[in-house]
Amino acid sequence: MRWTILALVMLCGCAADDIEDTGEAQDPFCGPETPIVTYETFGQGFVDTYCQGCHASTTPNRQGAPEILSFDTETDVLGHAASILDATVPLEGDARMPPNGGPSDEDRERLEIWLTCFVDY
Ligand code: HEC
Repeated sequence: MRWTILALVMLCGCAADDIEDTGEAQDPFCGPETPIVTYETFGQGFVDTYCQGCHASTTPNRQGAPEILSFDTETDVLGHAASILDATVPLEGDARMPPNGGPSDEDRERLEIWLTCFVDY
């Protein structure tokens, strides 16, 4: 999946040509060509749309979602980033969250880019 993103970015010509080659090895997933994804531009909307129906601390019916897993703020999300990635974009097996599907593959990839490349833990 990571190579697919990279290949797509290269194909569409979005890669910045003017970035200096420092000679250092680039992370193949988080590199200069990686589209910028943030909580403000993507993460908050994704979580509100696909997770908060059950995981918000204020939701009237959590449908069994654990109390400890509430994603009300960016801090809440980052505190559970590893579990969120594992449930939503698992390295192996099928995604477990959201239980009934919903997000496109593209949005799942954006989630992965955001939580892998653009947050400081
Ligand atoms: C329809 C309700 C519902 C929605 C929507 C939902 N969840 Fe859940 N979630 C649950 C329930 C119920 C559990 C506890 C049972 C279980 O683990 O399957 C859970 C458990 C989890 C867990 C811990 C267990 C595991 O499988 O890793 C994580 C992490 C999680 N959810 C993340 C998310 C994320 C991220 C989203 C949005 C992309 C999301 N959930 C959307 C109901 C939901």
